[in-house]
Amino acid sequence: MAFTIAVAGKGGTGKTTVTGLIVQRLLQEKAGPVLAVDADPNANLSELLGFEVETTVGGLQAETLKKIHDLPAGVPLDRYMEYELHQALVEGEGIDLLVMGRGEGTGCYCVVNHILRRYLDSIQENYPYVILDNEAGMEHLSRRVPQGVDLLLIVSDANPVAIRSAVRIDALADELKLKIRKRYLVLNNLQGNVPEQVSGQIARAGLEVLGEIPHDEAIAALNLEGRPLSELGPGGLALTATKKLLEKALRKEERV
Ligand SMILES: Nc1ncnc2c1ncn2[C@@H]1O[C@H](COP(=O)(O)OP(=O)(O)O)[C@@H](O)[C@H]1O
Ligand SMILES: [Mg+2]
Repeated sequence: MAFTIAVAGKGGTGKTTVTGLIVQRLLQEKAGPVLAVDADPNANLSELLGFEVETTVGGLQAETLKKIHDLPAGVPLDRYMEYELHQALVEGEGIDLLVMGRGEGTGCYCVVNHILRRYLDSIQENYPYVILDNEAGMEHLSRRVPQGVDLLLIVSDANPVAIRSAVRIDALADELKLKIRKRYLVLNNLQGNVPEQVSGQIARAGLEVLGEIPHDEAIAALNLEGRPLSELGPGGLALTATKKLLEKALRKEERV
């Protein structure tokens, strides 16, 4: 059974970066293979992981719907779509990536969504870790991982507006009745200490902070050149912080 980590938070606070950092740490620990799912329509996880992605699941869903009435005789829709989905899975060293992308427009997606869910369910069995980089609203999370997530990480920077978003996301997780075994706030991109006003805000909201990831110039430099996080040295600021917080979360879950 895969250990599923979902990363959420206000756009721009570092969801994708934190997802990428966790993937790097899992790979350094040889804890893979890891399945990364980019579930944010403004997808950029593939670039951070150094993948070139041509096919997205959303695109496939739309294409499948168009072809639904003229599949070759004898080819059941689920077999056809599972084959196509497998083409969308990008395979790398210890890490595979599935990009959800856009494409969920009008039309009934019930059948294709059902096939997608079954496909996700079946491939998850092949990975000890699944990590999802989510859109801020998390609308699709319950549909994609109905079995729930083991760890929800809500990412925020030390800005009161981002913390307010984090609090809303925390409430949304309850409203959507997501099955979440453990949830934490991760403070990212910190320059110096967290202002008291912000710590107060976090405490009042009752959010549990898993850890802090500092602003790391090495990430900024890679980002500027469009280079992947795998080029970060293992002893860097952000990766060292990620190692600590991941160990803390996994220790509590008795994974290490
Ligand atoms: N710890 C960090 N150190 C340096 N830069 C960071 C850090 N975290 C995020 N960033 C930068 O902040 C910007 C937004 O991050 P990103 O992960 O794309 O956010 P999101 O996925 O939440 O929209 C990017 O330019 C990224 O490189
Ligand atoms: Mg992102």
